[in-house]
Amino acid sequence: MIIYTTENKKFDGQREKTVLDAALASGLVFEYSCKNGQCGVCKTTLLKGEIIEKQGQLALTDQDRKERKILTCCCAPVTDIEIDAADLSALHGIEVKTLPARVNRITYLSDNIVEIKLRLPPTANFQFIEGQYIDVIWGAVRRSYSIASVSSDKELTLLIKFFENGQMSDYWFNQVKTNDLLRIEGPKGTFFLRDTAKPLVFLATGTGIAPVKSILSKLEYDPDYQQSQTIEVYWGNRYPEEFVWDASFNKLHITVHNVLSRPVDGWSGDVGYVQDVALADRKNIDGLVVYACGSNAMIQSAKKRFLESGLLEGNFHSDAFVQSF
Ligand code: FES
Repeated sequence: MIIYTTENKKFDGQREKTVLDAALASGLVFEYSCKNGQCGVCKTTLLKGEIIEKQGQLALTDQDRKERKILTCCCAPVTDIEIDAADLSALHGIEVKTLPARVNRITYLSDNIVEIKLRLPPTANFQFIEGQYIDVIWGAVRRSYSIASVSSDKELTLLIKFFENGQMSDYWFNQVKTNDLLRIEGPKGTFFLRDTAKPLVFLATGTGIAPVKSILSKLEYDPDYQQSQTIEVYWGNRYPEEFVWDASFNKLHITVHNVLSRPVDGWSGDVGYVQDVALADRKNIDGLVVYACGSNAMIQSAKKRFLESGLLEGNFHSDAFVQSF
């Protein structure tokens, strides 16, 4: 079966493989994040042909289904098909690898956030674009984490939050030791900075700040980057002690709004949801580009609210932290 795109690209599809996996296997990269039907980032329109669902398309609404929207991470072709999907050429040549990784440093930044630095083999030649994520594999358990460091760093830095009863949380918070041997698979995802000239708003909840830190650090270190636009970061947390990153840069001029979801005594920052605070701060969103990373609930709400306020859909990029099964 052949899968055609509106950009006149085509690749082989199989009933056994999702459209997204078939695209990736053939060297094309379409927008994706969770790969399990929850975030909706891979949503596209089926223009011709028929597909089957390999897993539930949870992020589709009834209206989406009427409009023949599909999630490329969930569907496989049963005939030749044509889809309205754009190939992200910026990610060409970024090879997904499975590599051994040793725990190099463990720093508990608060009771429920740990910073882990992983060391890869010197010959690994692991490349990623700032904003992407990796899977960490520990025995039979696999979890996705955004990379907080930049690609030129010797170590991969992850910011990891504790989840009650989480198998991997038990490892990170009770068992991990320096020099532990894990495996990683990646880089993955299509959350990266597209256009450095437009005004930028970053929305993050919890450790969703990790890829924002990576993207901004990359700009800070890039000798060719001259800032000509505003950059604002809205970072939401439940407790004051969860603001574990102090965004201080020399070259970049950014405004960081720390937003607590509920008021506490002595808090002088913003209170509420990041998307509400960010929207209340601006009268005009013309030309704005929004990058959102964190809970799926925040991202779905932020996307809805920003699009209702006039943001172009193509100017909203997201990476959702969704539940692993
Ligand atoms: S729903 Fe397909 S990548 Fe998230």
